[in-house]
Amino acid sequence: MNVDENDLLHPAHRLQNTYNEYKDSADWLLAEISIRPQIAVICGSGLGGLADLLSDKITIPYEKIPGFPKSTVPGHAGKLVFGELSGKPCACMQGRFHFYEGYPINEVTFPIRVFHLMGIETLIVTNAAGGLNDDFKVGDIMIISDHINLPGFAGLNPLRGRNEERFGVRFPCLSDAYDKTLRQMALDSSQDLGYQDFIHEGVYCMLAGPSYETIAESRMLKILGADAVGMSTVPEVILARHCGMRVFGISLITNKVVMDYNSQQKANHEEVLQTSRDQAEALQSLISNLVGKIN
Ligand code: HPA
Repeated sequence: MNVDENDLLHPAHRLQNTYNEYKDSADWLLAEISIRPQIAVICGSGLGGLADLLSDKITIPYEKIPGFPKSTVPGHAGKLVFGELSGKPCACMQGRFHFYEGYPINEVTFPIRVFHLMGIETLIVTNAAGGLNDDFKVGDIMIISDHINLPGFAGLNPLRGRNEERFGVRFPCLSDAYDKTLRQMALDSSQDLGYQDFIHEGVYCMLAGPSYETIAESRMLKILGADAVGMSTVPEVILARHCGMRVFGISLITNKVVMDYNSQQKANHEEVLQTSRDQAEALQSLISNLVGKIN
């Protein structure tokens, strides 16, 4: 008998799900829906309105999907919305699983391999982030050109544990994590929409959260080359690249990260959500325009 070492562990200590757990979830979803999505979009904090733009929507709450993580707050996990965006069949995650909520990293990233097994080839990730770059203003949009996986430096990588060769190689290359063609297409889309004054490209750094950065930490991140900082996205991107999906990422700069001990400004979630609400439409228009260009 071929025993998987993961199956011998208590669920809280499992590093990886089995291939069949992802497959069961993907097969269940494919039986529920008739469309065959090509693009998956993960909607960040306050950016879930994108899913409402889909036509011929089919909405499935996460708790109904076999194998999907169980919400730590009942009824708050979110839902998967299928439909067409700019004429392209899409799957939209309205609400993501964050590491800081207490989900193990394999659960945070669970939907990604399910999308892959459903035949989805492109992943679009969005998030709210604090701006470290002096040129960035609140409400600006940053196309992610690269990332820094700071939790990864301390051992938190979604690929840690046994490698499943059916998804990808043991040591995947990440020097081309964010697709150059898609980035250029998004820059073209921002021209189409007249967004030149508030669009940037830059490096996103993930911290585990949920506490915001100290001033010393913020200064360190800037020196390290990060332009924006947030608490999500990177684990999903690593798993998506591992299984060969192409990735496009975008950060909405919801606040300026405090760098000065004399500043009276304080990072707070209300400001993050308010900026998301104010700029959600611009971000949605950019993604719809971009999706229209993808073939
Ligand atoms: N820091 C970390 N995560 C964030 C921030 C921030 O300033 N803004 C939005 N998410």
